[in-house]
Amino acid sequence: MIEYKSEQERLASLGRLAGGIVHNLKTPIMSISGAVEGLRNLVAKYEQSIYDQSVTTSDHREIASDMHTLLNQVQAYCSYMSDIVDTVKGQATTHCDSNNESFTIHELVKRIELLLKHEMLRLNCILNTDIKMDFSTELYGDVNCLVQVFDNIIVNAIQAYEGKKGRIDLVIEEDEGSILFAVRDYAKGIPVTVKEKLLKEMVTTKGVEGTGLGMMISNSIVKARFQGKMWFKSIEGKGTTFYVRIPRKK
Ligand SMILES: Nc1ncnc2c1ncn2[C@@H]1O[C@H](COP(=O)(O)OP(=O)(O)OP(=O)(O)O)[C@@H](O)[C@H]1O
Ligand SMILES: [Mg+2]
Repeated sequence: MIEYKSEQERLASLGRLAGGIVHNLKTPIMSISGAVEGLRNLVAKYEQSIYDQSVTTSDHREIASDMHTLLNQVQAYCSYMSDIVDTVKGQATTHCDSNNESFTIHELVKRIELLLKHEMLRLNCILNTDIKMDFSTELYGDVNCLVQVFDNIIVNAIQAYEGKKGRIDLVIEEDEGSILFAVRDYAKGIPVTVKEKLLKEMVTTKGVEGTGLGMMISNSIVKARFQGKMWFKSIEGKGTTFYVRIPRKK
């Protein structure tokens, strides 16, 4: 019976892991597919222009320049996916005995910033990190799992700005023997109907663009892998703060 339970647990965490990977790769894949569609249209435009005497040299240059722009976008998304794969690889190799590992706040923040760099630039947002405690403080567990949690929370904050310029604050401080992380945005806030379900069920307001898995997975990672707690406060039209509290390494 004990084997059965641990098998169930393994399956559950495998499911969470797979869900997390799918979740993180979906956005760049969709963006690449959009750019490829754009390139297809430009190639068609170019073909049509071959025998068209009215198309000037500067028209050709313009088409080529549009193609370059799209190719650069594809390249940026590929390197973003490569960052994600590196994170997931780290997560997979350390998957089993992650409880014996530790990492510092500094390491965690560096990884979060690396992973989110492209998405921040692409969508006009700035991440403002304020560490109000010793950078070298250690936490137990697999750093990549926690990176994934913050990636999910921060990507939601970026998306809440809907392409408008925005600031996201990540504050890290000590709180009664625990470490308290707060991620704050000043965007549109979470609708009441979503609030009731968030963290427990799959819920999304993003149509086909969202799976509704992000916060549910994050909540279960914080609880199951870090013995921590996650909650949020949000006011419509004013913004949202997600909190993650994790016990300190003893
Ligand atoms: N910072 C935020 N501001 C406003 N709404 C938010 C914020 N974070 C979450 N939400 C709301 O909670 C919903 C669920 O978020 P969750 O991350 O679980 O899934 P999703 O973002 O919809 O989909 P996915 O994460 O797969 O892209 C979102 O669709 C959005 O409505
Ligand atoms: Mg999300």
